[in-house]
Amino acid sequence: MKKRLYRILLLPGDGIGPEIMAEAVKIIDAVSHAGINIEIDTDLIGGAAIEKYGMPITETTIKKAKRCDAVLLGAVGGRKWDSLSYNLRPEQGLLLLRKSLKLFANLRPVKTLRPLLNISPLKSEIVNGVDFIIVRELTSGIYFGKPRGIKSTPRGEKGYNTEVYYQHEIERIAHIAFQLAQKRRKKVTSVDKANVLESSILWRKVVNEVHKEYPDVELNHLYVDNCAMQIIKDPKQFDIILTNNIFGDILSDESAMITGSIGMLPSASLGRSVGLYEPVHGSAPDIAGRNIANPCGIILSLALLFRYSLNYPQVAQVIEEAVERVIAANYRTKDIAGKNSRILNTSEIGDCIKEEVAKKLTP
Ligand code: IPM
Ligand code: MG
Repeated sequence: MKKRLYRILLLPGDGIGPEIMAEAVKIIDAVSHAGINIEIDTDLIGGAAIEKYGMPITETTIKKAKRCDAVLLGAVGGRKWDSLSYNLRPEQGLLLLRKSLKLFANLRPVKTLRPLLNISPLKSEIVNGVDFIIVRELTSGIYFGKPRGIKSTPRGEKGYNTEVYYQHEIERIAHIAFQLAQKRRKKVTSVDKANVLESSILWRKVVNEVHKEYPDVELNHLYVDNCAMQIIKDPKQFDIILTNNIFGDILSDESAMITGSIGMLPSASLGRSVGLYEPVHGSAPDIAGRNIANPCGIILSLALLFRYSLNYPQVAQVIEEAVERVIAANYRTKDIAGKNSRILNTSEIGDCIKEEVAKKLTP
């Protein structure tokens, strides 16, 4: 029987994107070598696409993305394009891609690794054993709501956005959160601002309704300001944090610091058939081109790609364990270096992780 061919589209993007993507490609090579049939294609997004096509993503790229099994993305954005009008900014490429692929569910796992406990700015006893997933709604809310804009008015310029959620949008993301919780510690914390916002009042009501279908899962609600505090005070209380687009964006950067560095955090965005995988960190223009960025975020995102899109949980685990072993052996990029760490550059860390992966995956 002919082996199934998996197609992955790589979108390195801007800043450190291409450097970390090169390391992910090494891992893909190691996995292909072990006998999984993978075809990769590379295309432009963000500032890189603006430079070539005058827009942050082209229709051709979106079509390509729709035809593949999964997309792996580096990062978008940079100072060079900051002054462009809203529609032409690099970030729009990513937002349009998420919307076009209908990727409404963004999963951002936050898990501490033992060897990194003292890298976190929080006390070890607080971060030791943290293991939760932020389930962020990704294709609605204030990111996409209308009306939006900047307008001249008699009282001066006015900038405005709208937080909108339809019942069905809340329902589908709530189902994802409850189903994920069922496979874990069976606890969902839904985060909103229902003491102030109508969109949050509806959010809470719909989440409570959906919860009735999952009686084995415990549900509680937190206001987002309190949640921001609880993440620092006692992050171990969380199993699944379910929240809207903008709260999820903010809380995931905050949560990243629990693990020590935002460079460590992966994410998976799921919707219909094609999944999008990207590290939580941005394009880090300040360190771009210096071969010092942490490739773990994208490599762990690749692990999620194997788990959720290609249905190879064993490969995902091998990649995750490889990252853990390299870190435990005290080989680190600068952002996660401890006292006696050997500081390696981006490509050296990538080589170490690839070697570990290759060792475990024999053809
Ligand atoms: C993220 C990023 C994006 C977001 C930007 C780059 C559009 O911050 O994925 O968290 O706000 O969603
Ligand atoms: Mg963000």
